Parts: sequence; structure tokens; C-alpha cells
Amino acid sequence: MTRALPVLSTVEQTRDFGRRLATVLRAGDLLLLTGPLGAGKTALAQGIGAGLHVSGAVTSPTFVIARVHRPDPDAGGTLPMVHVDAYRLGDVQDPLGEVDALDLDATLEDSVTLVEWGEGLVEQLSDEHLRVHRTRNDDDSRHVTLTPHGGDWPTRLATLT
Ligand SMILES: Nc1ncnc2c1ncn2[C@@H]1O[C@H](COP(=O)(O)OP(=O)(O)O)[C@@H](O)[C@H]1O
Ligand SMILES: [Mg+2]
Repeated sequence: MTRALPVLSTVEQTRDFGRRLATVLRAGDLLLLTGPLGAGKTALAQGIGAGLHVSGAVTSPTFVIARVHRPDPDAGGTLPMVHVDAYRLGDVQDPLGEVDALDLDATLEDSVTLVEWGEGLVEQLSDEHLRVHRTRNDDDSRHVTLTPHGGDWPTRLATLT
């Protein structure tokens, strides 16, 4: 099952969608954020981070590959969010080894893990994951498509608009 959702025309709409998506997330979830450079993967991660009430700015760091954002309990946050940007691993000799070295499996169970540029690299971390694909069209409008792999994602996503 793939779900195509409404066009998210602005960065604010993208972040709002991330906030809504955050309401169905729980510990152990792995989300692959896919799509070309500038499609809005990080903008989506910012919305998810806002929805999970995590602390620390969600950015695309140049040198950091994975960052743990702790929940802010005062704001109602309960789940850490691990944000990975594997873009730079595209150039290294052993990207799978580098991903191993990040020890994402150590935090996976207790966190929500979001990975940009992680296709072919992180699927083995979990039996199930959600692919969140952003497309950027010629007119600069952007769609999001959700493709669940395993798990009870279809039920959880059914309420999402
Ligand atoms: N509908 C939209 N959704 C997300 N970002 C948008 C949108 N329209 C324009 N933008 C801009 O496009 C850029 C997307 O950047 P980013 O989220 O870092 O992309 P990615 O992580 O996919 O490379 C931002 O500068 C953002 O302001
Ligand atoms: Mg990014």
C-alpha cells in the first residue's frame, strides 16, 4: 500500500504534516526520508521533531551524520528522535561499515529514527520501516508519498490527512 497525500506547497505545510505524522509514531520506528536534494526531507524532520517535542534545532549538519534529539518533558516530549543524514556516506568506501559504526541499533528500540539518504543502508536495522518519499516537481510543488514496509503502518496511517 502506498499513500499519496496532498501537495505540501510550502515549508510550513511540510512541517505541519511532519507534526501530524509524529502523532502516530512510537519507540522503535524507523523512517526513511527519501527524495532529491532540496525536496524537503529536513523540513519534514523538523516538523516531526516539533511534534515529538524534542530539543535542539533539527538541521542538515555538514559534519555530523547522526544526532540524538532528547525529548523535552516540560513540553510533553517522551521519545528521543535520532536524525541521520547519510548524504556524505555516498562518497565513502564502506558506507555500510560507517552506518554500523553509528550504532543506530543501540538507540533504535527506544527512539524514533529518521534517516535521510539512507536507502540501501539502513533497512536492515529493522524488520519494518516507513518510507516517506518527497518529490519536487518542475513547478516547485512537492508531494509526499508514504510506503509502509511491514508492521501495522497501514492502520496507523489510516487516520492521517
Ligand atoms: N513545500 C516545501 N516543503 C519543504 N521545503 C520547501 C517547500 N517549498 C520550498 N521549500 C524550501 O526548500 C528547501 C528544502 O530543504 P530541505 O528540507 O533541507 O531539503 P532536503 O533535506 O530534502 O535536502 C528549504 O529551503 C525550504 O525552505
Ligand atoms: Mg536534508
